[in-house]
Amino acid sequence: MSTLIDVQSLTKTYGSGDNVQTVLNEIDLEVKEGEFVAILGPSGSGKSTLMNILGCLDGYTSGRYRFGNKDVTGLSEAELSLFRNKQIGFIFQQFNLLPRLSARANVELPLIYQRLSKADRIKRTEEMLARVGLEDKLDHFPNQLSGGQQQRVAIARALVTNPSLLLADEPTGALDQANGRQIMSLFHELHAEGKTIIMITHDIDIAKEATRIVHVRDGRIEKEERVR
Ligand SMILES: Nc1ncnc2c1ncn2[C@@H]1O[C@H](COP(=O)(O)OP(=O)(O)OP(=O)(O)O)[C@@H](O)[C@H]1O
Ligand SMILES: [Mg+2]
Repeated sequence: MSTLIDVQSLTKTYGSGDNVQTVLNEIDLEVKEGEFVAILGPSGSGKSTLMNILGCLDGYTSGRYRFGNKDVTGLSEAELSLFRNKQIGFIFQQFNLLPRLSARANVELPLIYQRLSKADRIKRTEEMLARVGLEDKLDHFPNQLSGGQQQRVAIARALVTNPSLLLADEPTGALDQANGRQIMSLFHELHAEGKTIIMITHDIDIAKEATRIVHVRDGRIEKEERVR
């Protein structure tokens, strides 16, 4: 499998002079296409900071980041947002759906930035919501859906553009065990279909669902472990 993500000596600091805080310290990370990687670490270890950098939502202080065969370091804001829209699907702990939009409108939104006909957008949106088992909730608003259902809408939204990478930050963190299980079995299906997934968690049991666990502590990679 070819390399999708190649991070070398990635460092992120905040502040300056005596107040400099190193949040990520010389991170080296390689993720191959089709891998399902968990990034595991305690609160404050730098997981979300790393996710935001991998997702091109945030910059870094030094080091190198290549995505596919593209060096993302030199891209402008406009190029980065286009790149994100095409290549990366995000899932967050708090779902981050737009409350005034229906399930279908939330999922359709990323497609509006791409040149697709309305008919194609509707088709892909409905297919994606059916894929996550919500074909009967198309016109429900977020506050009319359970947490697990909202997270499945968020997954449909993340996947509707067919991104190369799915980035999830504590995707089951706000869910009960049954709904968490449902989300994880969806991740297993996506992995089996060849999707590359990076999932951030502080929960070892959730991390063990992945094929590889990257342990992060104090902004460093402590060890890596292959699960299966
Ligand atoms: N904008 C910022 N300015 C200064 N420090 C920051 C900033 N953002 C994050 N940090 C610091 O970076 C460190 C790592 O934060 P991060 O959010 O990446 O942790 P995390 O591993 O995701 O934690 P959690 O499990 O609680 O979500 C923390 O010590 C935090 O205080
Ligand atoms: Mg976090």
